[in-house]
Amino acid sequence: MKTRLNPLHVSVLLLTTAVLVVACTPSERLEPVHPSLPEVTPSYRTAVDQIFDIQFPSELEAPHHDQRAELGRVLFHDRMLSQNGAVSCNSCHLQSHGFAEPKALSLGLRRELTERNASHLVNPGSQFAYFWDGRADDLTTQVTMPIENHVEMGFRSLDGLASRLAQLEYYSPLFTAAYGDPEPSLERIQDALSTFLRCMVSCHSPADEAFAEAMDEFWDPWGVTNGTLTLNGLSSLEKQGFELFHGEAQCANCHGGPHFNGWGMDFADIGLDASTEEPDPNTVNNFGLFGGWGPTAMKVPSLRNVALTGPYMHDGRFETLDEVLDHYSHGIQDVPSLDGRLRNWNSFGGDEIFIGPNLPALGNEAAAPIRLNFSPSERAALKAFLHSLTDFNFIQDERFSNPFNPPS
Ligand code: HEC
Ligand code: HEC
Repeated sequence: MKTRLNPLHVSVLLLTTAVLVVACTPSERLEPVHPSLPEVTPSYRTAVDQIFDIQFPSELEAPHHDQRAELGRVLFHDRMLSQNGAVSCNSCHLQSHGFAEPKALSLGLRRELTERNASHLVNPGSQFAYFWDGRADDLTTQVTMPIENHVEMGFRSLDGLASRLAQLEYYSPLFTAAYGDPEPSLERIQDALSTFLRCMVSCHSPADEAFAEAMDEFWDPWGVTNGTLTLNGLSSLEKQGFELFHGEAQCANCHGGPHFNGWGMDFADIGLDASTEEPDPNTVNNFGLFGGWGPTAMKVPSLRNVALTGPYMHDGRFETLDEVLDHYSHGIQDVPSLDGRLRNWNSFGGDEIFIGPNLPALGNEAAAPIRLNFSPSERAALKAFLHSLTDFNFIQDERFSNPFNPPS
């Protein structure tokens, strides 16, 4: 005789299974939320003007480029990329803050603090070094370093990451669209995330619009400072700030180039802390071309969107741009590793060998730190210029926003 399950038996069975599942579930349960994406994948090929062109055409022409970027968008915002499901990349890199976090240090997956201030992300494809100390030089492999970092996202083994994603059903159509089959692998995760980051192009701030109109094909701030080019799109205060930045205030000696980041490859110790220790000969900036390669030298950050990305510096010590300007105005400390560009070579009277205005002296003593002592109007102009670098298109662009709804 066949035994048949009657509906009552079935529901008792289901109930018991459900109770067992709940009882076995650890208290910190991973709860994936499905992303909601537009029906048609948008183009991630941002049209950039020649002077801002930071994407290599070969990358843009990669097959399924936009689908790869879109997969990267989902990965960037997915908490399932942290070992316990507590944080995603955008926990510390918030779009509304220019992809920085408005805290000096950030909390990682187990609520431990990061060692440094979360970098803001802007035009990552225009850089040649990543992290404040520049310890990574390849964006494709850099993007999974935060996932492995024990404070940030805590995945001990990146193999575990691919198997985690294989269990999340919403990834299978995304991987298929991007790579032809649903299999997640470390290489694909790195490729998709770094493609997304390379597409984070910000080039539509009010200042950008004015540069594009005035400078035509190549980056020529000197054309503006010597009066042959006019930045019509900026207010007179912003223009005055641009000129100070590229002139007397000497900011462009380090924050030069169209991304205001020293062309993505400059480092400097800007004398934030007075040192009570004996100078270590290895940190004295005597021989570097720009004087910036010692352990205390930090990457020159891009100043795009800087009005949104506070607090500032590698440790988030300054809350406001005013505090930053106080530092450059009169706060630079005379430490041996101070970058040569922040010393006043006009007052140079020691017995060093002077080898050029932007180069450090050879000798044990160096010229004193610069004291720019900004007047109130110079300060207002510099601030106005820094504010004109805010690209609201970028921070509101849906292609870079959180697709998890409710936000993961
Ligand atoms: C818990 C906070 C946190 C999380 C989560 C996090 N980051 Fe970061 N991120 C940081 C901090 C802090 C730094 C600066 C670290 C340093 O310089 O030592 C940083 C730096 C970076 C940089 C370097 C930027 C530059 O201009 O040098 C990139 C790129 C980056 N993160 C991408 C990511 C990606 C992609 C993810 C997700 C896979 C991620 N981050 C997750 C905190 C975080
Ligand atoms: C000698 C090179 C140099 C010069 C000159 C210089 N900077 Fe910087 N700037 C840096 C470096 C390096 C950092 C990061 C330092 C750190 O965190 O230790 C920085 C950081 C900043 C920051 C904080 C950005 C952030 O994301 O935290 C701002 C704002 C800034 N600089 C503005 C200026 C202005 C305005 C001037 C001109 C008055 C100027 N800088 C001159 C090298 C320089």
